[in-house]
Amino acid sequence: MILLKNIKELLQVRDTAPKKLSGAAMKALPTIKNAWLLMEDDRIVDFGSMDNLKEIVAAETIDCTGKTVLPAWCDSHTHLVYAGNREQEFVDRINGLSYQEIAEKGGGIVNSAKKLQNTSEAELYAQSVVRLEEVMKLGTGAIEIKSGYGLTTEAELKMLRVAKKLGDNYPIAIKTTFLGAHAVPTEFKGNKDGYMDLICNEMLPKVAAEKLADYVDIFCEEGYFSVADTDRLLSEAKKYKLIPKIHVNQFNAIGGIAMGVQHNALSVDHLEVLTAEDIKALQGSHTMPVALPSCSYFLSIPYTPGRDLIDSGLPLALATDYNPGSTPSGNMNFVVATACIKMKLTPEEAINAATINGAYAMGLSDTHGSITKGKKANVIITKKIPSYGYLPYAFGSNLIEAVFINGQKV
Ligand code: NIG
Ligand code: FE
Repeated sequence: MILLKNIKELLQVRDTAPKKLSGAAMKALPTIKNAWLLMEDDRIVDFGSMDNLKEIVAAETIDCTGKTVLPAWCDSHTHLVYAGNREQEFVDRINGLSYQEIAEKGGGIVNSAKKLQNTSEAELYAQSVVRLEEVMKLGTGAIEIKSGYGLTTEAELKMLRVAKKLGDNYPIAIKTTFLGAHAVPTEFKGNKDGYMDLICNEMLPKVAAEKLADYVDIFCEEGYFSVADTDRLLSEAKKYKLIPKIHVNQFNAIGGIAMGVQHNALSVDHLEVLTAEDIKALQGSHTMPVALPSCSYFLSIPYTPGRDLIDSGLPLALATDYNPGSTPSGNMNFVVATACIKMKLTPEEAINAATINGAYAMGLSDTHGSITKGKKANVIITKKIPSYGYLPYAFGSNLIEAVFINGQKV
């Protein structure tokens, strides 16, 4: 057993954890000041105020005087498994090309796919491990990882196998998503339907047979895949019980959100461009809107109107989108800070969005995302900070002192 005592403030304390938080409920972040927390094996066993700390014989006691403890981040949208990087495209953008222009020139997703197809599974694993270990140290305790830089059956399966293997070898919870419909590969240029056939008739059945994915995703966007393609793929994926989590409304609002909701998507992600109809489509649904503010930052595109979503009574989750093209960063602390600074979320809303609502967007709210008895022992211990508002305020500092995932110190 590990006992954390004299915790200045224990955040996100929920006796019975909600599945998700919506609208005004996101403003509340329950805490205990001067608290203790007990972990045994991979679980949170108990917690409370130091005023009534029982006699506990723990193998290890950690004094948290002046420090804040909170649930580890739940990053529900990443492309952490990829090969190489695209810093040349970054420089091209500095010199005036747009993200779309670079993609039209054969850069972008298909550029990453070329690199990945020529990278062995062992090498891809080695590159991905570095990123996973990095984000775990930054406080991420549950993560979703997508395919989508393979774009051939073999390479898509390779990506998913690497993501699965990371989950086998590390304590962090990993959910995997099949994103074969990320871009039309060069070999299918001008023949998107042919590629859709390959996805539906060959890739999906193989991904399902090898049980490589929990979710299915598609980049529903002008120049990539249409709302009709989205309808087709999600209908097909339903046969294999793959739940949708889709990329939508990054650059254009083309009706993809309503289509996602119609297919009971667990989440709709990006939403930098959002219409009143999109918000209406989300009302009353079980679909979590997910904002990716690091992507907006890196590409200099609009931020998801998170304030409007929350003020409309909707929930909101925050994730990194860690990938080589639009977001080469997996730092959830930066995401939380940027949501406060640029999207005008309060620290309470941002922390709720990055913990319990992120857990919901991975189907993990029963085990992750809050300090609740019986949940996974996933916690961040901060350095000495004056209050939790200091976390997003001091956006450039690393304020994390220690991270526990499944009760194991990272
Ligand atoms: O979520 N928008 C689509 N996919 C990724 C970026 C892909 C890339 O540029 O490599 C994203 O931003
Ligand atoms: Fe993404």
